[in-house]
Order: sequence, then structure tokens, then C-alpha cells
Amino acid sequence: MLRAASLCVLWASFVLGVPVTKERQKVLLVSFDGFRWDYDHDVDTPNLDQMAKDGVKAQYVTPPYLTITSPTHFTLLTGRYIENHGVIHNMWFNTTTSEKKTYYSTQFVNEWWDNGTLPIWITAQKQGLKAGSLHFPGTASSYQGQVAMMREVEPFLYDYKNETDWHENTDKVMGWFRDQDLDFVSLYFGEPDGTGHKYGPDSPERREMVKQVDRTVGYIRDSAERHGLTKRLNIIITADHGMTTVFRGPQVEQITLSKIPGFRFSDVSFQLLDYGPSGMLLPKPGKLETVYKALKGAHPHLHVYKKEEMPEHLRFSKNDRILPIVLWTDPGYVLNGFFPVQFNKGEHGFDNQEMDMKPFFRAVGPAFHRNLVVGPFETVNIYPLMCHLLGIEPELNDGGNVNFWKNGFIGLSAVAGFLLLVFIVTISHSFLKRKQKNQRQF
Ligand SMILES: *[C@@H]1O[C@H](CO)[C@@H](O)[C@H](O)[C@H]1NC(C)=O
Ligand SMILES: *[C@@H]1O[C@H](CO)[C@@H](O)[C@H](O)[C@H]1NC(C)=O
Ligand SMILES: *[C@@H]1O[C@H](CO)[C@@H](O)[C@H](O)[C@H]1NC(C)=O
Ligand SMILES: [Zn+2]
Repeated sequence: MLRAASLCVLWASFVLGVPVTKERQKVLLVSFDGFRWDYDHDVDTPNLDQMAKDGVKAQYVTPPYLTITSPTHFTLLTGRYIENHGVIHNMWFNTTTSEKKTYYSTQFVNEWWDNGTLPIWITAQKQGLKAGSLHFPGTASSYQGQVAMMREVEPFLYDYKNETDWHENTDKVMGWFRDQDLDFVSLYFGEPDGTGHKYGPDSPERREMVKQVDRTVGYIRDSAERHGLTKRLNIIITADHGMTTVFRGPQVEQITLSKIPGFRFSDVSFQLLDYGPSGMLLPKPGKLETVYKALKGAHPHLHVYKKEEMPEHLRFSKNDRILPIVLWTDPGYVLNGFFPVQFNKGEHGFDNQEMDMKPFFRAVGPAFHRNLVVGPFETVNIYPLMCHLLGIEPELNDGGNVNFWKNGFIGLSAVAGFLLLVFIVTISHSFLKRKQKNQRQF
């Protein structure tokens, strides 16, 4: 019910809008890595505020679990939960050879990304449209032998904080829209994730970086205007996940697997640990129960599940790549293997129900209502929304079904639809206000 209500708001937000022009609309999808939903609450963000006035703002959005960069970005591009699209981790790995590839190297492993689900670039191109991508995770890979028509992969050791580069990249994709007549482009910025990790989400450094993001949002909209795109271009700005503060100090009982009585690394043939709050284990033959029993309940802030018993809401179970034992910690804790090796002040990768894992969402353009705040929705819905804006048939996905809304909600009169919309927005707004009051202080 809640999900259905959220979807109503999402779809209604543009379905009720009257297209300004008969020309095909364009879509720019922007991701600011790790921009938590409430990062604009303690920083002056005039450009984000203006964008909300001129368009649609969601209270927050819910990413899929596992809340880390490559998997959640691929959900934005495909509308599928992670267990369904197969990009289940930032790192490619082989359990036979114990080989692992870093986040960056994994970008170039086609078999990792091209696992049966097509990103929107390829779907758009197959239907006669032109697509591009700049630095977005997944850009380097090919899918069924195809790549985005215009693409730029983030260089190795890229300085992802440089505001001058952010402006150049923005102008570059606006040029693609104008000069190459691209219909869809995805654009990625590596902040405020980096700063959130290094200094923590409550740091002055993070607030400064949010100001830089805000200036860039203004720059993106100005650049669209300068390139003569305002009437045709819809701009969606969101992120892959949020960020939370890691607890430090002698009073914090760290979670280190090697210190857990009854757990032995010799019972495990492959492990993915020391990666923020999450981990996966492949026990040796016959050792599953031993490993599971040793770890389950071993620490009050450690969650241990057999793959097939994973909590339903995480939707992180039904994929061959997910290992037999899945581990994650509560916010504030990270998961260590042999000894603590993680020193970030901020982390993500936690349960997607945690408010600190939720990203922000803004949209502006000819298809969107102005000055509309909508209730929260899952990021799997962004893909079918973008397909609808582009006028293309979506692939099988886990978001809202366009036909369902066409047959149901859109069949209602505009007035009834509008009243329903106002009702839902009002309800979710006051609900959230109450919740915020109880939970957060700033
Ligand atoms: C892992 O490595 C083994 C041995 O080289 C190979 O047979 C297997 O196909 C590899 N699996 C994957 C998923 O790459
Ligand atoms: C997805 O990857 C797995 C190995 O990780 C492989 O067994 C499977 O065939 C792949 N599926 C597709 C459709 O590419
Ligand atoms: C940022 O990038 C620009 C252009 O690529 C370069 O000229 C400038 O030196 C960089 N600034 C910093 C602080 O690295
Ligand atoms: Zn990220």
C-alpha cells in the first residue's frame, strides 16, 4: 500500500504535466555520489532550493541493498534490484582462485556488468535514440556488445573534487545534447562521498562539499540554458546511497571476525570482508553450519544470515553471485576480518531502511510539476520514469509499471487524480515532519 501510494505520487508528478513542446524530450540523469537526503538541512543551498521551487523534490529516496556505489548505480540505470541485475558488489571476485578486483578495475569487467540486464543507454539506442554517459559507474562495460554512443570513463586516479573539472564535464554533456542531439545522458560526480568517508557526514568539510555540489547544480541549470536546452531537457539529480558516522574510541566494541570464539578462517574458502559494514563468506564444504553458528549472535551489532534466509526487504538473496553467508553491521560499526584495517569516519553499505542510507532526489524540466514535494519512493522507480519521459519501452524492471498507471490511475479524471496527489503529499509530508522531529536535531 505504501509503495503503491508513493508510486502514485511519482507518476502523477509528470503525468499531470502538459508537455510544453511536441518534440521528443531529453533526460539528464545526474548522480552526486553519497549525497544523503538531508545534506541540505544544515547548509545554505540556494540552487537546490531553487530547483525544488522550479520542479519536484522527494523527501528522500530508498536505494536498493547493498547500499554501495556500483550496485546501486546499476539499479538507477536498469530499475532492477541488485539480486536481479547481478552487479552485487563494487568488486569482481572469483571464489575458485580467490582473485578480487578493485572498484576501479571492476568497471572494465564486461562479464560482471553485462549479466542479462540492459542499462537504459542500450535500451534507448536499440529503440533509435542516442545515449551518452560521463563517468557514471557501468560506462566502461559493453552490454550485448554495445556501448553508449558518447562516453567518457573516469580516468584512473582522477581528482573527483575539482570544481573546474565539474564545470567542464557539465558543459561537455550539454554539448552532446545540443550538437550530437543526444536524448539521454548520465553524469556522475564522485562527491560528497569521498569527503563523507574521510571526514564524516557531520564534518565542516562535508558541509563545504555540499556547497560545491549546490553551486554545481546551479551551473548545470545555467549550462542547460546557455545551450538552449531548457524547453526539452528534464534534469534528474539524485545519488546512490547516503552516509553515516562510524563510532570510534576505546569504548566501542569493534567487530573483528578473527576474535569471535568458534570462528576459524580455516573453515572458509573465500571471503569478502573489510569493506565497510558488509561482508560475504563461502564456507568450505561441510562447514556452513559451523561458520554460521559461530557468527550468529556473536556481536550485538552484527547481522549474520544464510543467503536463503535473508530478510525479504533487502532483496539480496536470489543471485548465484551472492555467497552462502551474508554479514552486515548496524550503523556506526564496520566489519573487520583478521584485524581492524578501516579508518574512515563515514561509511555506507548498511541496511537500506536506515535513514542515513537514503539519498536525495530532485527533478526539473518540461515534464515535471513545479514546486511539488513528493513522498519517498524506491530508486528502482527512476528507470521506468526516465523511459516514460524518453518515450521508450522499458525492459523488465522492478519499478512502477507504466501500463498499470495508464490503465488505472491515469484513467481517473485529472481532478480526482490531483486530489489524490494532494492528499498523499500532505499525508507523507506531515508524517515525515513528525519523524524528523523525533529523529534528528539539526
Ligand atoms: C574462476 O576461475 C576458475 C579457474 O580459473 C574458472 O574456471 C572460472 O570460470 C572462473 N569463474 C569466474 C566467474 O570467472
Ligand atoms: C551471470 O553471471 C554468472 C556468473 O557470475 C553466470 O553463471 C551467468 O551465466 C551470467 N548470466 C548472464 C545472463 O550473463
Ligand atoms: C582543476 O582542474 C583544472 C582543469 O583541469 C586545473 O587547471 C586546475 O589546476 C585544477 N585545480 C586543482 C586545485 O587541482
Ligand atoms: Zn557511492
